[in-house]
Amino acid sequence: MADRPYTLLSCGMSIDGYLDDATVNRLPLSNEADFDRVDAVRASCDAIMVGAATIRNDNPRLLVRSASRQADRVARGLRPSPIKVTVTGCARLDAAADFFTAGDAEKLIYCASPVLRQARYRFGSVATVLDGGEPVDMARISVDLADRGVRRLMVEGGGSLHTQFLTADLVDELHLVIAPLFVGDSRASRFVGDGCFPWNSQRRATLAEVRQIGDVVLLRYALSSRFGED
Ligand SMILES: NC(=O)c1ccc[n+]([C@@H]2O[C@H](COP(=O)([O-])OP(=O)(O)OC[C@H]3O[C@@H](n4cnc5c(N)ncnc54)[C@H](OP(=O)(O)O)[C@@H]3O)[C@@H](O)[C@H]2O)c1
Repeated sequence: MADRPYTLLSCGMSIDGYLDDATVNRLPLSNEADFDRVDAVRASCDAIMVGAATIRNDNPRLLVRSASRQADRVARGLRPSPIKVTVTGCARLDAAADFFTAGDAEKLIYCASPVLRQARYRFGSVATVLDGGEPVDMARISVDLADRGVRRLMVEGGGSLHTQFLTADLVDELHLVIAPLFVGDSRASRFVGDGCFPWNSQRRATLAEVRQIGDVVLLRYALSSRFGED
């Protein structure tokens, strides 16, 4: 078995590269057909990971929506939805958030070592709280997830997580959906922040697919030699 899961990073962004606007409401970037495509990708994964800020801002459920996809998973001996994973440095999450309460998927929280005790006290009854180290390192989390049997990991944002996974060269496949709108507000989160990315003018990423889905476009990039692995 590989020492880290096959990792697929998936997100939607505006034409000008934003993941959201700067308001408290979640900005819908995708359309129904694309949500359904994302649902199929989710159903094919063992775990879905988001950053703590995404849980605070968007309150995502992170469940497989389609009943038939859930049934397929159950027929394969899996839970209806993948394991939910998050990472936090300050452990300020709401235990009533949908991440914890929606569905019966296993939940994992990787937290920075200094807040481990506090996090276990707060979330020990609703999730498995794990020591992510100090600083928390995505490579270490990836290895730990593989040890827990996660073969396919889907990273669903936000920008901080994208930046760390991509700069650490931990992503095999990138799904970037571009919505036909501008945000134009630098207070909002971008797809990625500053960093030293493995793909640049000397080493271009491989564009594997371009697919129009209604009014959005999906760009699929192969980022490693593992691209396309089952
Ligand atoms: N369009 C899309 O597809 C999409 C998808 C997801 C999210 N979003 C948007 O993205 C925005 C959030 O993105 P974001 O970049 O601000 O945040 P994020 O990546 O969701 O989460 C960042 C948070 O995760 C924790 N974290 C990340 N790396 C860590 C590390 N190495 N060690 C310890 N903790 C770590 C920290 O939590 P603590 O603060 O708890 O310490 C940090 O503040 C929201 O506006 C959301 O709507 C959009």
